[in-house]
This record gives sequence, C-alpha cells and structure tokens, in this order.
Amino acid sequence: MSTLMKVPFVDMARTLAPLRDPLHRTACGVIDSTRFIGGPEVKGFEREMAQWLGVDEVCAVGCCTSGLYVALRALGIGPGDEVITTVHTAIPTSEAITMSGADVVFCDIEPEPGCYNMDPDDFERKITPRTKAVIVVHLYGQPAQLEKIIPIARKHNLRIIEDCAQAQGSQINGRTTGTFGDAAAFSFFPSKNLGGFGDGGAVTAKDPAVMRTIRMIPNHGRLDKYNHEFEGMNSRLDALQAAMLRVVLPSLEAWNKARHTAAAWYRALLQDIPGLVLPRERDDSFHVYHVFVVQVPDREQCAAFLAERGVETGVHYPMALNLQPAYAHLNQPRGCFPHAEQACDHVLSLPMSPSITREEVAHVCEQLRDYFSA
Ligand SMILES: Cc1ncc(COP(=O)(O)O)c(C=O)c1O
Repeated sequence: MSTLMKVPFVDMARTLAPLRDPLHRTACGVIDSTRFIGGPEVKGFEREMAQWLGVDEVCAVGCCTSGLYVALRALGIGPGDEVITTVHTAIPTSEAITMSGADVVFCDIEPEPGCYNMDPDDFERKITPRTKAVIVVHLYGQPAQLEKIIPIARKHNLRIIEDCAQAQGSQINGRTTGTFGDAAAFSFFPSKNLGGFGDGGAVTAKDPAVMRTIRMIPNHGRLDKYNHEFEGMNSRLDALQAAMLRVVLPSLEAWNKARHTAAAWYRALLQDIPGLVLPRERDDSFHVYHVFVVQVPDREQCAAFLAERGVETGVHYPMALNLQPAYAHLNQPRGCFPHAEQACDHVLSLPMSPSITREEVAHVCEQLRDYFSA
C-alpha cells in the first residue's frame, strides 16, 4: 500500500502549470497598460464568454453573489416578493435573494440517493401567490431537473434564474446550462471549473432590456460616465481578472472532460462498496464534477481515516441552510427538509481537479475501500 502518496483536494498549481507563461505575460501586460477598470480586456472576455456559452451578451461582475443579486433586481424582484431556492446550496444563493429585498423560501432536494438538486415537486409545493422567481442551482456540476422545473415555473409565471457557479459547461441534452432560464449567474472563484485569480463572476439574460439593466446595476446605475439613471453599486470584474480569464477560458472544455474522466475512474473503482453512495449521473446530462461527492455512514471518522493516509477531502455542505444561524428567523428546525438534512450529515467530497491522475484516484479509492472493510 502506497501510504506516502498525498492527494490534495484541489491541485490548482498543477492544472495551471501549462498556462504559467501566458498568464504571467498577460498579468504584466495589464499592469503595463494601467487600464485596470473596464476597457478592452473586460469587453474581450465578455465577448468570448458569450460566444462560449452561445448567448448574445454576458456582463462581467465582481462575483457570482452580486451577479445573482443583479439578475434578481434587473428582473424586477424586490420587497414583498418570495423567491424559492434549494436549501442545499452555498449561502450566496440565498444571500442574493435577501439582498434584493425579497423573502427566501427554501425547498428540499431530490429524494433519490446521489442526487442533490432542487426537488421539482417540493419546489411546486412551496409556490404561493407572492412567489415571483426561482433560483435553480446546478450543484456540484450536476444540472438540475430543468425539464420539470421550467414548466412548473412558467405555469406560475415565475422568473427563472440559474445559479451556474459550480456548473460552467454542464449540459442537458447537449445544451449548456445558463441558457435555459431568464437569467444566469456564474462564479470565477479560483477553485471553480472556470477559476479566476481572485473573485469574479458573470451574468447573462435573454431579454435585451433586462440585460441593459444588468449592465447598469454593477456600474453605479450608468452606461456612460456621468449619467446615473438610478442608484446601483460597484461590482465590476477587474480588467486584470478579465485578461487572465481570457487565457484560461479556452481550456475549460478540456478541463471539464478531464473532471468527467476522473469521475468515471472513481465510479469504476468504488461502485461495489456497500454503504457508499456515489453521485448519480442522469443520461440526458453532462455533469462537470466541480466536486465529486459521495455519502458515507460516518463522515467525520471517514474523513479522518483518509486524512491519515494522505487524502484531503472537503464537505459541501455540513449543514442545510435552514439549520444555519443566519436563517433561525425562518423557524424551520431539523426535520423540515429531510432529504437535504440527511445528505448534509453524510456528504464527503473526494479530491477532484482536471489534473488529478489515475494513480491518485486509485490511491483515494484504495484508502476508502480499506476504511469500509476495517
Ligand atoms: C452555488 C453557488 N452559488 C453562488 C456562489 C457565489 O459565488 P462567488 O463566490 O463568486 O460570489 C457560490 C460560491 O461558492 C456557489 O457555490
């Protein structure tokens, strides 16, 4: 047994190593240009990302949290409205709803083991006359069941926003997520599938009038320098980030494929372990494995066992949002979202990055197998 091997949870340095020279040249170029806010790098990145996504326009913003907020506000969501989202997500999704002035309404996740996205049936149960929008999260890189969620939302005249923070490049029937709803937001947090070199995000919307507002909100309510149509905020993508993202964007497709291949290695080596729940991959979807999440009976013990053997793991997430102190005012104790709460007690994220090797995956699987047979 090769107990000396260390497998990091994410290996950004190795993934980025082939791009080191162009990244360094690009950073120096932006510094020398002294064009740090807006300008050709931001415009160029927006154009290239729109082309990659297959949409008319993308607006680069400071992060996905503000991107979601900007999308909600541009779609006219505000005080008095309710917005439904999954209770099993990173808190930025629901923070953005509160920032818009609307009320957060949580729904549970799918009951099938290995599925972690919004349950379309529970989503429909949570709709009230005040519901104005839904934020659909494609968690872990797995597309949500949009073929069920979209018709429900349309029937109730709800706006649909896709949270693609963890799912850049994932697809349903060959169509990329982020192109299904009224709007979508993306994150370039460094460890994301399309990671930047600090915070960053982007927003897109179908309606050109909504897109115009989306452009204005993160730039102080203006399109040109001195004409503020309303009060906005400051949440622009830095030119430096945009320039660096232009260097990495062409690698996204290959990186996603590499993640997918690593997931297949995991699946092949772990499928016969009783008690271990593997992520479900739907036939119609391309899962981009932002994280590879399994469920184990005793997560803390398993993570400690793996750590002792050089395997770094993560937890996404240890607590459903209804149980976070930030949402105590919603008064939704344990038991309100049984599927999400159950998942949160057991999920464990195994090492995953585009540059993970077959040997590393085999090492992780060997340790996990030892744990289960101990
Ligand atoms: C599902 C989800 N939504 C939104 C965000 C927010 O992204 P950002 O850090 O770019 O604001 C994250 C980031 O972790 C996320 O995982």
